[in-house]
Amino acid sequence: MKFFIDSANLDEIKKVAEWGLVDGVTTNPSLLAKEGRGFKDTICAIADLIDGPISAEVVSTTSDEMLKEAHTVASWHPNVVVKIPFIPEGMRVVRQLSEEGIKTNVTLLFTLNQALIAAKAGATFLSNFVGRVDDLGGEGMVAVQDTVNMVHTYDFKSEVLVASIRSPQTIVESVRAGAHIATIPFKVLELMYKHPLTDKGLQSFLDDWKRSGLTIE
Ligand code: G3P
Repeated sequence: MKFFIDSANLDEIKKVAEWGLVDGVTTNPSLLAKEGRGFKDTICAIADLIDGPISAEVVSTTSDEMLKEAHTVASWHPNVVVKIPFIPEGMRVVRQLSEEGIKTNVTLLFTLNQALIAAKAGATFLSNFVGRVDDLGGEGMVAVQDTVNMVHTYDFKSEVLVASIRSPQTIVESVRAGAHIATIPFKVLELMYKHPLTDKGLQSFLDDWKRSGLTIE
């Protein structure tokens, strides 16, 4: 499974880059707005930190304007993936960009039908949102499993990217579903490392070693 970090915060991205675990980055207008840095400046700074796909989202909703914005953000760095919201106009743009060889990440997917249309349009990544469905008492992973099955059934080249992640359990369920990628918020990635028995066990090893008087040499 590929790990993307779902963030536009350079400190977070720098830290996880040092952990050597991150395969890419996804941003969105809300994450960028939180950072208060320029869009291009932030994306280029991320490209200096991570050698992998970096999703940068268009903010227009007409196909002409989305296509213009897509070409602009794609020109910033070879690793930029153009993020397009799932609207009919957007799928036309995804088709066009796919024919031009520009990678796309279709975002705000909640159903199998939406993912199927995005895959047929030629999306590189299909961003199935889980947390926002779960927040409403639904089961966001159902559409993820359906989308994974769909991609395999029809041999689509699109990769299923689990997004809107609230807890490490979603990563577990994403692995079970066979999703290709999870885009993980920094705090959730930190939590994935933690277990009290790991901490307790290590402390016990080190205490016993210290008492033994043994040395490595
Ligand atoms: O960036 C796409 C997605 O992961 C954002 O999800 O629900 O945390 O805003 P959310």
